[in-house]
Amino acid sequence: MVSGPRIGVVGATGAVGTITMQLLAERGYRDVRAFASARSAGARLPFGDGELVVEEATPETLGAGDLDLCLFSIGTTASRELVPHAAAGGAICVDKSSAYRLVDGYPLVVPEVNGARAVEALDRDRIVANPNCCTIPLACVLKPLHDQARLERVHVATYQSVSGAGAHRMEQLRGEDTAGHDLVMDWSWEGDESDEESKLRAETRKVMELPDLPVSATCVRVPVLVGHSEAIWAEFSEQLEPEDAAEILRHAPSVRVLDLPAVPTPAAAAGIDDVLVGRIRRDEASARGLALYLSSDNLRKGAALNAIQIAELLLDAVVARAAA
Ligand SMILES: NC(=O)c1ccc[n+]([C@@H]2O[C@H](COP(=O)([O-])OP(=O)(O)OC[C@H]3O[C@@H](n4cnc5c(N)ncnc54)[C@H](OP(=O)(O)O)[C@@H]3O)[C@@H](O)[C@H]2O)c1
Repeated sequence: MVSGPRIGVVGATGAVGTITMQLLAERGYRDVRAFASARSAGARLPFGDGELVVEEATPETLGAGDLDLCLFSIGTTASRELVPHAAAGGAICVDKSSAYRLVDGYPLVVPEVNGARAVEALDRDRIVANPNCCTIPLACVLKPLHDQARLERVHVATYQSVSGAGAHRMEQLRGEDTAGHDLVMDWSWEGDESDEESKLRAETRKVMELPDLPVSATCVRVPVLVGHSEAIWAEFSEQLEPEDAAEILRHAPSVRVLDLPAVPTPAAAAGIDDVLVGRIRRDEASARGLALYLSSDNLRKGAALNAIQIAELLLDAVVARAAA
């Protein structure tokens, strides 16, 4: 059993926080506290075989110096206000909002892709950002292919479940007639693209350390509860045969290749840790292109699991430094 770090889950009542609590219990962490806004303070949440009473997240409670690790899933404005206090109190902070993702000097980390970047935070203010729920699976699939045949261009279309927009949207969908469901675009517009699309481009560039990579994204919400899917058209500096790409991805961490007639679906991806990838074929519209399709659990690898993996890298690095 793992034990040791004193962990705060901030946003514990939310869609991502609920999964964070489940994963921490599954991994054997015991010293865990649940935080949320004043609205939920005093509520009881299941944790392992027992329950935790939700505490209000305030600068004082998070900054008191009695937490080693804080996992934040509370939204950008609240993160900007609270994360610095937890970090100043000595906690390693992994933030799932967009507050720090694209700010210079803050590592934006997918452990399988650029995990070494995470430890840079230990020499700064101990804050690491967790990427957007579409960036993470996209980078898990593209990085091993890029290592083989330099990536030159990416087109991606996303089909994102409502849980990506939080617990209240899940409740809404559960109560709706999905046949009549309209696709709600709950992102803001930046010129003629959504901020989700520009984030996907900028975060993919930062995580993959390819600052000039052309990325064209179209993001839409679909009436699915959990699981984001992405259709990807990737161009490389040399032709990658689909069977070679599939073989590379079979050996890639956190990726599971599905062969026809199996195809990735949100239902198959929901509740598992791996990114499912399939339909790997030549892109008939490009000289050196591949078309692929992925599905992944946006609440697990897209958010809670990735953040816990980052945290474990940092906790291990702290132990290694202390022993050195
Ligand atoms: N859902 C995803 O797939 C996903 C993936 C990657 C990243 N994220 C990011 O993770 C964050 C949370 O997303 P979510 O989907 O879990 O949202 P959610 O279901 O709406 O949950 C939000 C959580 O934040 C808490 N909260 C809100 N304002 C707060 C404040 N001022 N102080 C303390 N706690 C506060 C809420 O507590 P109360 O119960 O008290 O209101 C709740 O626990 C967002 O930044 C989102 O962009 C989400």
